[in-house]
Amino acid sequence: TDRYCVFGHPVGHSKSPAIHAAFAEQTGERIEYTAIEAPLDDFAGAWRAFVAEGGRGANVTVPFKEEAFRLCDTLSGRARRAGAVNTLILGGNGLTYGDTTDGVGLVRDLQGKGVALAGARVLVLGAGGAVRGVLEPLLAAQPASVRIANRTAARAEALAEDFRDLGTIRGGGFEAVEGPYDLVINGTSASLAGDLPPLPDGLFAAGATAHDMMYGAEPTVFLRWAAERGARPLDGLGMLVEQAAESFFQWRGKRPDTAPVLEMLRQAL
Ligand code: ATR
Repeated sequence: TDRYCVFGHPVGHSKSPAIHAAFAEQTGERIEYTAIEAPLDDFAGAWRAFVAEGGRGANVTVPFKEEAFRLCDTLSGRARRAGAVNTLILGGNGLTYGDTTDGVGLVRDLQGKGVALAGARVLVLGAGGAVRGVLEPLLAAQPASVRIANRTAARAEALAEDFRDLGTIRGGGFEAVEGPYDLVINGTSASLAGDLPPLPDGLFAAGATAHDMMYGAEPTVFLRWAAERGARPLDGLGMLVEQAAESFFQWRGKRPDTAPVLEMLRQAL
């Protein structure tokens, strides 16, 4: 049995063990997948110890994605762009390869739900690691434009600058936001505090989608606000399952069917 895990701190709340157990059962892969709380001051040591015990790969969550990035021997192009790694793979040569599947997960979730990305006017709220991690796959889907808006405008401007070779992308503060947008993605952690970024009315085009990377038993404040203004609300649970499916594919070469697993998680929220 090949061993995998998710590293985090804390990690007890992680849904990844349940997701990967479901994928394994569905695909007939014999794997063991556990949650490991790595010490805050020695993530690299935790990964080495896991490998020494037969670990073949891992997911990485808060707060270790940047540290995981630094310990990799080789990186996927999208991980290099993101500056973060959520998927570690032990190569046959003993080297550690790093990938990030969050952005693909977001794009697959949106596409699977019929959200057209090509030609779309996209607004992304936030300019932290969560947003940086999804920009390459998002831009690869060829939206008409991407605007990044952030509380700290300079961070959004710098982030847009880092990705300008990949498409039409600009950054600024919330006050500079102009509608309408076909897709608005909330990648801030404001929802955690129950906060809503200051956004103008008239933000959404007809038929627009609002996506929040967060999820919970109840819709986030952002999704409630968006739904009241006619946008279709989508929470981050689908993205969670899709990024997991892409990690599973990287490790096992099989693509699980995500729909029943998403349904299972939704029921359990
Ligand atoms: P993550 O890795 O989750 O992206 P982060 O790098 O700390 O975490 O980024 C958090 C993001 O949420 C940032 O864009 C932050 O805005 P600032 O760059 O101005 O700090 C945003 N954020 C956090 N709390 C917020 C709030 N209450 N209102 C608006 N934006 C908030």
